[in-house]
Amino acid sequence: MAKFLVKKSGPMRGEVTISGSKNAVLPIMAATLLTDEECVIKDVPALRDVDVMCSLLESLGAGVRKNLDENRVTVKAEGEIISEAPFDLVKMMRASILVLGALLLRSGRALIHLPGGCAIGERPVELHLKGLKALGAEIDEQSLQKGIVDAKADRLHGATIYLDFPSVGATEVIIMAAALAEGTTVLENAAQEPEIVDLASFLNKMGAKIKGAGTGTIKIEGVEKLHGVSHHVIPDRIEAGTFMVSAAITGGKILIKNMLPDHLKAVIAKLRECGVEIDVTDRGVIVDGSRNPIVSTDIKTLPYPGFPTDMQSPFMALLTVAKGPSVVMETVFENRFMHVAEFNKMGANIRTEGKCAIIPGNRELKGAQVAATDLRAGAAVVLTGLVAEGTTEVSQIYHIDRGYEHFVDKLRGLGALIERVED
Ligand code: UD1
Repeated sequence: MAKFLVKKSGPMRGEVTISGSKNAVLPIMAATLLTDEECVIKDVPALRDVDVMCSLLESLGAGVRKNLDENRVTVKAEGEIISEAPFDLVKMMRASILVLGALLLRSGRALIHLPGGCAIGERPVELHLKGLKALGAEIDEQSLQKGIVDAKADRLHGATIYLDFPSVGATEVIIMAAALAEGTTVLENAAQEPEIVDLASFLNKMGAKIKGAGTGTIKIEGVEKLHGVSHHVIPDRIEAGTFMVSAAITGGKILIKNMLPDHLKAVIAKLRECGVEIDVTDRGVIVDGSRNPIVSTDIKTLPYPGFPTDMQSPFMALLTVAKGPSVVMETVFENRFMHVAEFNKMGANIRTEGKCAIIPGNRELKGAQVAATDLRAGAAVVLTGLVAEGTTEVSQIYHIDRGYEHFVDKLRGLGALIERVED
């Protein structure tokens, strides 16, 4: 198993260019199944999750040409589309559920065996299923009890749907299904993330009629057919946020290119509260952590435009070394503090109580053997490794490979002492 060795590094300096967004490209790739014509997706990041989505589309009968050296994927889903998603791919990536609506529309049935039985099979997709039911799909309840989504529909029709929580995945699945349903769908309390806007703009280019993406109410007028298009994926806001923290935590100054600051308003505001200077220029965003000491702040994760849950662990890395105590409240996911135990191995001394983590700050961290407990937590322990005395050994880095393109090369380009070693 590969590992990262991270040594205490000096301040980050230089430039870094942000890749295409993982969370935007995955639903867009799923949406290519909605047409039998060719779609070309550009600025696709070379990531493990993208590989898994390519394999999933192929296993469903689509023709996929992957050229990730040039960040391009071409999909042509002509002919018959298979209704069953293979379990070995679905278990590798939760985002596989995004093909649900497209399978229903193309083959009249969608069969997806979710990993983990009821615990994962029922709760985290109930909003997706509620939406599809409102659009006319039949969901087999007995299969669902066993963790299998078995949905059938001869045709889908428009409906008014209210989401109890603005789930990103449910919003994406419902938009895709409603795009080809008969009549008009109104989705209330929809997720407002930039990735939803990118998906809607991809679908609208294909001929869909979607209005209001990026707000809480999305209106979709169903159309009969969608056609092939070419599309550039938006930059990855979480990757950009992670690099912003790399400059802040090391007291460095970097230029971040291909970053859309409008997508990171909450993160930028919080970094400024901590004393980081941020300038938006024509060339990119300059992040300067060298001018002021980092002071503590509190954060609370929320659906967009609130502070992103995916930035919670990278930001907590910064708060471990800030002057003074901070409180981090996680409201989006119930159990997203696994990285706390890893930070504590390095001397962070963080305590959790329910949804809150209390971070004393002012810590001199020491290198330790830590694990990337999930994708973002993996990036977070690498960030702490940059300022910890000695060497930090990060295991389970396959999580990081899922979502950060050329992470080691990009960090090394800024002066980080990090290397990948095979065990
Ligand atoms: C997406 C992102 C992920 C990000 C998350 C929240 C992708 C591929 N992944 O995940 O990086 O962390 O948004 O910004 O885009 N929930 C339910 N029932 C449902 C659906 C969701 O209870 O039917 C809960 C989830 O368990 C979780 C919360 O809602 O606690 C947010 O989930 P959701 O917005 O659906 O996230 P994903 O689309 O899975």
